[in-house]
Amino acid sequence: MVNAVRMLRAGFVLAEPQILEIADSFQKAMADGLAGKQSSLKMLPSYLTKPTGIEKGVYLAVDFGGTNVRVLTVELKGSGAYQTLGWQSFPLQDRDYNFTSPKATGHELFSFIAEKIKSMLSPGRIYPLGLTFSFPSRQTGVDRAILIKWTKEIQTSGVEGHDVSEILKRALVDKNITQVIPKAIINDTVGTLLTASYIDQSADIGSICGTGHNTCYIEPKAPITGQPMIINMESGNFDNLPLTDYDIKLDRQSQAPGEQRLEKMVGGQYIGELVRLIIQDFIDKKLLFKESRPEIFYSPYHVKSEDVALLLADTSPDLKDVDQWLKTKGHISGSLIEERITLRSVASIVIIRAVQLVAATYTGVIMHIDPGLTKRHTIAIDGSLYELMPGFANKLSITLNNIFKGKHQSITTKLTKDGSGVGAAIAAASVDQTGGTPG
Ligand code: GLC
Repeated sequence: MVNAVRMLRAGFVLAEPQILEIADSFQKAMADGLAGKQSSLKMLPSYLTKPTGIEKGVYLAVDFGGTNVRVLTVELKGSGAYQTLGWQSFPLQDRDYNFTSPKATGHELFSFIAEKIKSMLSPGRIYPLGLTFSFPSRQTGVDRAILIKWTKEIQTSGVEGHDVSEILKRALVDKNITQVIPKAIINDTVGTLLTASYIDQSADIGSICGTGHNTCYIEPKAPITGQPMIINMESGNFDNLPLTDYDIKLDRQSQAPGEQRLEKMVGGQYIGELVRLIIQDFIDKKLLFKESRPEIFYSPYHVKSEDVALLLADTSPDLKDVDQWLKTKGHISGSLIEERITLRSVASIVIIRAVQLVAATYTGVIMHIDPGLTKRHTIAIDGSLYELMPGFANKLSITLNNIFKGKHQSITTKLTKDGSGVGAAIAAASVDQTGGTPG
């Protein structure tokens, strides 16, 4: 058993030179993507740059990045401060109807969202709107975004290849909502960066480490304008990576094989599945739970990232929470302490590699924008993994410190909670000529 874990660790955990190699190759993929060459990084323009911090007014924000949508009203105070005045979160599922399934159309999906927006409005007020749409989209302006391809298992029909803001505008017209004026569409990474830099001008990288994974940054010379612009890299699709047999298996059995390779190694959507595939293999090799075949480890996607977090959070000497989890979720009573330790080690190995890969991509970005490390860089991060996975944030900062050694003081990672939604309000404000409605 100990040997199997040792081999697993050797196959997953990266040595520093490997991390640097990945960072190099990431930096090359960035340059290729910017130059319009073949690259796994789409390097999508946002048509936005850093906010000034003096944007002001009340704005409506819609945050759509998965199976839930949030509608928020945000007051930007104009001095780098903001306040969320109200918000509502709802699943994209209405009684028996799932708006994210292939049966649903984009128009139905956005009409449902429009209805929810309506319920947040006060009569007689005009609301400039920012939409956070966290899927790879080709923008031709700050308020136009054509969905390239759904990710994160969303499958609504009639959206890929279409301008999302047009679908939203049509839904608002159909519902007779005239108070809401769409101004901007952004990715959640861009929202996170806008929110962090509204408060702190040193923020120049925005990232999500949650269900999905992606990073944006401020490109000093964007290809279209030659000016600074936030670029959404869609880095979850980066693919020059050392794969294990488990990664290959997970990818093959996923909805879109060959795509989102990095996301499938670091995203909350997949972390639990990787742990499950490893444990299943160990059970098949008779290394664990010899007398049983626990269903949870044979059912795809039944081990969630929350389960991985629970395994890692248990620091008790006899791992009693792991034991309880095995009893309730796995129907395994009487697990051996060695088995519980193995389970926890597997979770830890998967998370350490995720952190290392994310750190490698951040390193690639910093090498691209500031090779001599002459400035301070703040990486604004949001997402459940960064916020809640035990050890994730801390290991990330340690890994970056080790990579940048003497100069590590120049690099800060920072949780930017709810940045994706607030950022949509900031984006709307930065293009809004009226300055929003008075607060
Ligand atoms: C997926 C999406 C990307 C988003 C990320 C985090 O990778 O393609 O646009 O930023 O998830 O939500």
